[in-house]
Amino acid sequence: DGTRDEFRLMEKRVKNYGREVLSNQSSKSKRQKLKINAGKAVNETNFHWNEVVDVCNVRYSCLQVVSRNESDISFGDKKMDWSATNSHSNVYDLSSISPGLFLVSGALSIEQQIYWASKAVEEYSTVEHNNLNNLQSIYGNTETDEATLSKVTPAKDIPNVEDLWINSVDEDIPFETFSKLRWSCLGYHYDWTKRMYQKNLKSTFPPDLASLCTNLAHLVNLDLTVEAAIVNYYPTSANMGGHLDDAEHTMEKPIISISLGCSAIFLIGSTTREVKPSPILVRSGDAVIMSGTSRYCYHGVPLILNSTFCPLEAELYPDVSNTSQLLQQAQEQEYDSRARNVVKYLQQARINMNVRQVRVNPLEESDE
Ligand code: OGA
Ligand code: MN
Repeated sequence: DGTRDEFRLMEKRVKNYGREVLSNQSSKSKRQKLKINAGKAVNETNFHWNEVVDVCNVRYSCLQVVSRNESDISFGDKKMDWSATNSHSNVYDLSSISPGLFLVSGALSIEQQIYWASKAVEEYSTVEHNNLNNLQSIYGNTETDEATLSKVTPAKDIPNVEDLWINSVDEDIPFETFSKLRWSCLGYHYDWTKRMYQKNLKSTFPPDLASLCTNLAHLVNLDLTVEAAIVNYYPTSANMGGHLDDAEHTMEKPIISISLGCSAIFLIGSTTREVKPSPILVRSGDAVIMSGTSRYCYHGVPLILNSTFCPLEAELYPDVSNTSQLLQQAQEQEYDSRARNVVKYLQQARINMNVRQVRVNPLEESDE
């Protein structure tokens, strides 16, 4: 039966798993839940956690490609080089799952994760970057003609868009306003309604993020000229449906996809939806590299795993077990309030920076 939409089936199974197995919000008691799940165990459509590809599980250690060498360690004397990658990260070749797919596990240290997440919420979310964001449709402005867009002015009826983050951190329900923002654009802006890049509309691409991504590509001997990014902001209730990234004028260059905050299930399928996709666990600080065939494959994020960003106890204080007390101490001592807000956000959300080359010949002036 090769005509079934296997991608959609897997999305449903994973979403159900999130709703019925993982959710604490259900009014059902633990015993009731166990009973439900026991009944479903005989049902082959039930999703099982052991289907998840988790490179941190020893059974996937054979997929590890290269051990990192000295030249990868490019931290300066004292000051952190934010475009460097974490020298303790592991590179996994996931070609057996999808040809050309790599996962750099722990590509970013915890400090780097918080640095890039701060950039994403404080800077990349702002006017220069999000004039094509989803808030325009929420607030009723759907103008997308070139004359309007080329002015890169915010729509008047979007409230406080330039202060979205600042206004959000002190709300009664933390981040209530900010959580309405689902994506913003860096570099070449992508119009999700027209499914096109807007050649006359671009913001400057942050050079440090561009070099981080080329550094990541170099880890697996790939190269790209970074021209565009979509920054996705996922509250834990959000997901991204299966899709292809085929609006770029070249698909021969890799996509670099950086995960921050809560872990998620990333599905990678095939060039058609009729092939069953593989669920891969992506954690904060991981980078997925889609190159070769995998660049042409359906993929999506059906599930964000709430409360899975636990950086302080895991990385800063690995030897101590009293986590909640430690979290409090560490937050008071180690982080200023800005970083504390970012950590708080990351504990209930996921950020994905999805970085691409758009043009075949970026150095030539003309746009195709
Ligand atoms: C995208 C995308 C995946 C993710 O932005 O096109 O596929 O991990 N994102 O959020
Ligand atoms: Mn994509």
